[in-house]
Amino acid sequence: MHRDDSAVLSGMEAPVKGPTGRPLRTFAEPPVLKGHGPARIISLCNQKGGVGKTTTTINLGATLAELGRRVLVIDFDPQGALSAGLGVQTHDVPTIYDLLLGTVKNPVEAIVHTNYPNLDIIPANIDLSAAEVHLVNEVARETILARVLRKVSDQYDVILIDCQPSLGLLTVNALTAAHGVLIPLECEFFALRGVALLVETIEKVKDRLNSAIELDGILATMYDSRTLHSREVLDRVVETFGDSVLETVIGRTVKFPDASVAGAPITSFAPEHAASQAYRQLARELISRGAVA
Ligand SMILES: Nc1ncnc2c1ncn2[C@@H]1O[C@H](COP(=O)(O)OP(=O)(O)O)[C@@H](O)[C@H]1O
Ligand SMILES: [Mg+2]
Repeated sequence: MHRDDSAVLSGMEAPVKGPTGRPLRTFAEPPVLKGHGPARIISLCNQKGGVGKTTTTINLGATLAELGRRVLVIDFDPQGALSAGLGVQTHDVPTIYDLLLGTVKNPVEAIVHTNYPNLDIIPANIDLSAAEVHLVNEVARETILARVLRKVSDQYDVILIDCQPSLGLLTVNALTAAHGVLIPLECEFFALRGVALLVETIEKVKDRLNSAIELDGILATMYDSRTLHSREVLDRVVETFGDSVLETVIGRTVKFPDASVAGAPITSFAPEHAASQAYRQLARELISRGAVA
């Protein structure tokens, strides 16, 4: 199989096959939306840390916003990396935690407009780490986030939820609120370890709480075509999940940590870099799959 790094990252005219073994395609520029909302809600989920959930939430959010989609991203990790990565401060402001607890009733009060057009966020900070303890005795504790998001859904085309690395009550809330789930997988040893448990959790949520939830796709991240190892892992992932694996593959590059430090999406930090092109391709692929309007 011929693999070409520049093609992987940029989605340019493909020589032969893409990294997932399918012909490389460039997805067409989607039509301009005539109206907005209601939002499709997508949870970015993997109980393993460091696989690209937050990076994907930031950059998919930014590239969908570039395409004129109204995007709300939810920081659902007490670490607050999503908020930091978009340059949003989280100290002494209403956060998702206040909405979950009901101390702030109207989600609009917690929405922050980022510096990027069409891209809004509800931030989080370390307070959120207390949420599971506080909510454990609530009635219908798994559907709290769904009820919060319902109030703002009409104003957005897509809502992306950046989950924390666990399968606890917060993640169950995110899955219960979602129409779709996107699973980032790092092309590294043990990438698949734990995925069975994640799939099982999604199935349970589908069974008991949210029959509408769909797997929108598995996204291979941190792919390095120069290493046999990365290619072998991706082959295994495709063998296991078939067409659920998105054609877009995100390459490994230090531009991502650099952009995080700058508190900006990659598309602002390095707009022409292959990494920006890769997330633009991901946005178009998800629109073409119908995961986003
Ligand atoms: N494609 C990539 N190439 C190189 N580094 C990446 C890539 N995607 C993410 N990173 C870096 O890896 C670390 C973990 O990514 P992150 O998105 O925070 O993962 P998660 O949210 O799943 O814990 C961050 O420092 C991030 O900048
Ligand atoms: Mg994260």
